[in-house]
Amino acid sequence: MQGFSQAADNNKAPILAVLAEWLPDDANVLEIGSGSGQHALHAAAALPSIRWQPTERDEALATLTSNVAAFGTANILPPAALDLALPRWPENPYDCVYSANVLHIVSATLGASLIQGGANTLVEDGLLALYGPFKYQGEFTTPSNADFDLWLKDQNPHSGVRDFEWVCGLARGAGLSLLEDRAMPANNRLLAFRRRV
Ligand SMILES: C[S@@+](CC[C@H](N)C(=O)[O-])C[C@H]1O[C@@H](n2cnc3c(N)ncnc32)[C@H](O)[C@@H]1O
Repeated sequence: MQGFSQAADNNKAPILAVLAEWLPDDANVLEIGSGSGQHALHAAAALPSIRWQPTERDEALATLTSNVAAFGTANILPPAALDLALPRWPENPYDCVYSANVLHIVSATLGASLIQGGANTLVEDGLLALYGPFKYQGEFTTPSNADFDLWLKDQNPHSGVRDFEWVCGLARGAGLSLLEDRAMPANNRLLAFRRRV
């Protein structure tokens, strides 16, 4: 496995347990910012009737492609290029657009692009699922998330833990309604938004 992430290994099972509650059995899933592909590989292997399309920006695509080729099941598609800075969203709609730990890495502008582009790429009743840490009413949920935010901004001043209310406002504007805000291990959340009919 190239680019192995211990965090992704730790959170892949709790995330899948929740996604499995929300997804239709034969869901087509589009993932944004798949990284090493550990979430994609785990979900596709555990749920053989779904189809999972991992994506990454160009500079991270080779690692993802290599991991999917080495470890992927038949229901995980060859990774595709998708850069939120140059977004070319697929024309075919998906039942779910999923993204983990991307909103706090990319700038707020690209985060907004993820929410709008994701919403546009969903079927009616489709699900936008966003995993990561969030602030609530401007407050971090834990000191460790506040430290993480400082660390992120030290790496890149455009990065940072986003406000739940900011995400919800963008989602609402993109025609989505909040289905659930699920508490996850390690002070993370899994947000689900449904595309309104
Ligand atoms: C913290 S990693 C998360 C990887 C994986 N989703 C996970 O949870 O383990 C953030 C990911 O965002 C991706 N990313 C950064 N900028 C991006 C952009 N402009 N468009 C798409 N993905 C981007 C990175 O390549 C990286 O894989």
